[in-house]
Amino acid sequence: MSTVPSTLLDQVRQHGAVPTHVAIIMDGNGRWATERGLGRPAGHHAGMASVREAVEGCLAAGVQVLTLFAFSQENWQRPPAEIDALMALLEEYIAKEANELRAQGVSVRMLGDLERLSPSAKAAVDQIEQSTAGGTNLALNVCLSYSARAELVRAMQHLGARVAAGTLAPHAITEQDVAAELYTAAWPDPDLIIRTSGEMRVSNFLLWQMAYAELHVTPVLWPDFTRETFYVALLDFLRRDRRFGRVTS
Ligand code: FPP
Repeated sequence: MSTVPSTLLDQVRQHGAVPTHVAIIMDGNGRWATERGLGRPAGHHAGMASVREAVEGCLAAGVQVLTLFAFSQENWQRPPAEIDALMALLEEYIAKEANELRAQGVSVRMLGDLERLSPSAKAAVDQIEQSTAGGTNLALNVCLSYSARAELVRAMQHLGARVAAGTLAPHAITEQDVAAELYTAAWPDPDLIIRTSGEMRVSNFLLWQMAYAELHVTPVLWPDFTRETFYVALLDFLRRDRRFGRVTS
């Protein structure tokens, strides 16, 4: 009798405890396009299909929160044509995906300084957040115009305002108070952070939240990322011994 080899997803499921929250630094779109003699926007466009792969991977494996780094505060310094292409892509993504995401029970939130978006991009963001609100199978956070240091400064400003108003004593500020002022307040910290394209850096992403995250760096460029790439990262995570600063017995 021949044995059917188990798929990567089977192997993930056999482990049981998948990470609750996975965050991904989607990198390598530009290199993917350059390798093919295409313009950088073609790489970003191809990267949209990989977002769907990651969402499908989370739904199949039972990951509850997926946070994607789509556009950093620093990315505003890219050439205007590339920024325009990325903003157009955001609107295309929302127009194309909103119904499917809602049908799949995926609730979408966009995290970052959204005031910097164009009025039409902002309207599209509001539309997908409203139309998918209440989805309970997966929370999909897309970090847009986001940087972790700016997020922390914003949190400090909010806490400082409460101190100035006399409603919060400086020595009484706790880690929970800081976490409650971050864009990610509603979700547990990421358990696993995946970075594509082989770069070994964290690029101003979720600096507070990643305190005890496991890191997985894959050489795969973001447009080549599939749900199998995702399951390989989950299996790597499931083999880790997470100690949170303690010792294992
Ligand atoms: C990094 O690659 C990727 C980005 C700056 C954009 C990410 C956008 C997408 C994946 C597509 C759309 C997704 C949504 C959710 C709208 P890079 O340009 O830094 O690549 P490089 O390092 O090879 O130059």
